[in-house]
Order: sequence, then C-alpha cells, then structure tokens
Amino acid sequence: MSEAFRIGPWRIPAPAVLAPMAGVTDRPFRILARQLGASLAASEMITSDTRLWNSRKSRQRMNHEGEPEPRVVQLAGADPEALAEAARRNVDLGAQIIDINMGCPAKKVCNRLCGSALLQDEPLVGRILESVVSAVQATGRGVPVTLKTRTGWDREHRNGVRVAQIAEASGIAALAIHGRTRADFYEGDAEYDTIRAIRETVRIPVLANGDITSPDKARVVLQYTGTAGVMVGRASHGTPWIFRDINGLLTQGVLPEPLSRAERRDIVLAHLQAIYAFHGEESGLRIARKHLGWYAKLLESAPDARARLMAEVSTSSQFACANELFGAWAQVH
Ligand SMILES: Cc1cc2nc3c(=O)[nH]c(=O)nc-3n(C[C@H](O)[C@H](O)[C@H](O)COP(=O)(O)O)c2cc1C
Repeated sequence: MSEAFRIGPWRIPAPAVLAPMAGVTDRPFRILARQLGASLAASEMITSDTRLWNSRKSRQRMNHEGEPEPRVVQLAGADPEALAEAARRNVDLGAQIIDINMGCPAKKVCNRLCGSALLQDEPLVGRILESVVSAVQATGRGVPVTLKTRTGWDREHRNGVRVAQIAEASGIAALAIHGRTRADFYEGDAEYDTIRAIRETVRIPVLANGDITSPDKARVVLQYTGTAGVMVGRASHGTPWIFRDINGLLTQGVLPEPLSRAERRDIVLAHLQAIYAFHGEESGLRIARKHLGWYAKLLESAPDARARLMAEVSTSSQFACANELFGAWAQVH
C-alpha cells in the first residue's frame, strides 16, 4: 500500500484528510468522505466530562459501526485526569487513534479553559498530553495520540512552535495545525509560515489546515509548508468528492476525471439515506437540511431549489424533493 505518512502503527495512504467538525463530521459524513478518498476522518469532538456521555448526542458521536479503520476519536477538555479517563474509555469502545482538540475557539464545550484557550498555559498543555499518552499506552493496544491545535493564542503569542515541541516530547504521534490563532477565530486568511516553522522543528508528521479550498491550493500549501499532509474542513461541505480530487492530484500529479452529474446525484441521495438511518426522523430532517443547503449550490440553474428543499417537513418528502431536483440536474450534461 502507498503511504503518505504514519501515525503510530497506521500507514496513512494519501495526504488529504477530513477535519473534525462538530455538527458536520458525524458517522455518515465520515464514511462518505473516506469512500471519496479522505485518508482519515476524525469524529466530532467528545467532551472529556464523562457525566455528559449519556446524552443521545454523545452516544451518537461515539458510534463507529461500519467506519473504515483507523477510527479517530477527538476529545476536548482541560483536566489531564479526566481526559486520560475519557481516552481510556474510548479506546475500550474501539478508538484506534485518539486526537486531542486544542484548536477550538468555542467556550461551549466546557466553561473554563479549553480548546485553543489552553494554549495560554504551556505547562498544562504538557500535563494533559503526557497524561493522555500514558493512559492510552497503558491499555497496551498501540493506540497513538495526536493533537489538533492552532498557531498560538493570539498574534502576539504565536507559541505554536513551542506547543509542537511540548507535544513531540510528550509522545504525540502527529500534529494538525490550523493556520490561525485563537484570537483570529475564523477571520482573515490562514497563514502557513508558522505551520512551516513547526514542520521544520518537529520530526513527527504535521498536517497543514486552514482555507484549503481546492486541489491546487492543497498542492501549494503542501509545497510551501513541507508538511506530510493537509486537513480539509469547510471546502468539503457539499463537495465531499474534493478528497478524491486533492489526493488524486497530490499522489498521481493529475486531477482524476470529474465525477459525472449522475454520480454526484447518487452520492447526494445515498448521503441523505445514511443521515436518516443514523439520526432518525427529527434530527435526520434537520441535519440533512444543512447538507442540502450546501449541495443546493450545484443546482444554480434552479433558483427556487434551495427554498423548496428547506421547506420540506418530513424526511420522506425531503428525499422525494431532492430526488426530483438532483434527478433533473443529472439529466443535463
Ligand atoms: C462547523 C465547524 C465545526 C468545527 N468543529 C471542530 C471540532 O469539533 N474539533 C476541531 O478540532 N475543530 C473543529 N473545527 C475546526 C476545523 O476542524 C478546521 O480546523 C477549520 O474549519 C479550518 O479548516 P478549513 O478552513 O479547511 O475549514 C470546526 C470548524 C467548523 C467550520
């Protein structure tokens, strides 16, 4: 098998992976992205507070049935012991790579220092990473731990290089770096200089993340940063086939033949069915709306298509409407 990089014992065959996105990268979307060429797809983040794991949402997030290996579970939290326990439990539940989120700017996941806010406290970063790595090692299952983070706390405190060194020293197996600081949220353009500096400093694989919107951009970012791979988030919304294009270009040097409209119609419809089966009627309808809002960009020649799709109030009528609209679209070459 070809190999772009390794994460612990896992050979990752191609450079482009799906970014974890809460509310988007549920099991159906992860499976779809993997089928369409993403070489890894992490779960939506799971809180390290195990008291919250009884909610339907948390249970859904920990469901990996039918997912291709390696199954990546992302954890968020701030307490080294709680994160270690959460990691152990997820390894028991089948996680094959544990990813720690220090990249999320939201306060929602826990009320205190968490996600990228942790970057302010480098000693705590070290304690968290060591605690999780040793807990996971103690399971004896050879599960590697990875870290997803940003370039720093704010533009005056771009401590991404130091955090990466701490991570490597703590036994972290790979890093994904979003080229923004926490203070940037999602604003401005991602910068790749800090990612390059991190890649030059550590020996573990680094994935460049942020604003990778096309196969060409992926190639440019990979060349500039020298990283082992790229992580793609928002550009996969409504275009999950972007992974076959990016990985095709990066591994073969040429873009694969574009998918036909009929093939893309089939992907959209199968995705809807997978969402309904996984989430049920109520959540399925709502979550499918989000994806249909993105897929509707394909239907630019039918200006009322989006509004029609959004107006449907059951999964069966939503599916029938999508079937009609994307079916008509697929007839045109
Ligand atoms: C809707 C949404 C949800 C996200 N949720 C997570 C998450 O759960 N964990 C995480 O590490 N990053 C999360 N992120 C950040 C992405 O993984 C990624 O770092 C960011 O979107 C930049 O990459 P992009 O420009 O390719 O989208 C989220 C981003 C979006 C847009």
